[in-house]
Amino acid sequence: LPFWVVIPAAGVGARMAADRPKQYLEVAGRCLIEYTLDCFLTHPDLRGLVVCLAADDPYWPQLPCAKDPRIQRAAGGAERADSVLSGLQRLRGLGAAEQDWVLVHDAARPNLAHSDLQRLLQQLAEDPVGGLLAVPVRDTLKRAGADGRVLDTPDRSCFWQAFTPQMFRLGPLQQALSAALAAGVRITDEASALEWTGQSPRLVEGRADNLKITRPEDLQWFAALHGQ
Ligand code: C5P
Repeated sequence: LPFWVVIPAAGVGARMAADRPKQYLEVAGRCLIEYTLDCFLTHPDLRGLVVCLAADDPYWPQLPCAKDPRIQRAAGGAERADSVLSGLQRLRGLGAAEQDWVLVHDAARPNLAHSDLQRLLQQLAEDPVGGLLAVPVRDTLKRAGADGRVLDTPDRSCFWQAFTPQMFRLGPLQQALSAALAAGVRITDEASALEWTGQSPRLVEGRADNLKITRPEDLQWFAALHGQ
């Protein structure tokens, strides 16, 4: 199943409190974003890939993959949705068509397994909407007030963690993101834009270790996987 990829990589990664955006932190001599890109670049059905970068990003041009002809750059924006929209526009310029599948994947989610990517592509190939990799929550959930005291305990059986890749068709994804941005709706993933337009993305259960590196302990975990 042919597909395109957009990697939003224009965030500042404030929660990591590092000296650089988290996708450029190094593990075993390679940046996180290089691990992230591997899973797609080694897939035979990849049509093209766009990374959305901050305007003043000094790190990307230093990487070997910056010279890979299959990877194009797009300008990032103020919000994640702006960055993704910019990437989608770039895909149009590369020849992507209205109904082509696009996978959007976080730059700092470096442990995507080929088996998860395959399952996502296979399960959504005929889907009218598209969907995303997700994992059922395993811990009990608490809803709390600003004072840190528990309000209640929702039934966890219907809650999932939304991971990436998130897989939608180019035109419908562009329309949903544009509409959500124009309405000032705050969205943190692509699926919520589709939901906002009344569609229901499908959840594809993935591996729990497809983690987004967000906090220092996440980076330690990923480094340990790579023998560090
Ligand atoms: O902040 P969070 O970890 O949810 O960001 C997820 C992804 O979106 C990251 O890869 C980040 O670089 C990207 N992003 C972006 N443009 C923004 C904000 C976030 O490309 N304005």
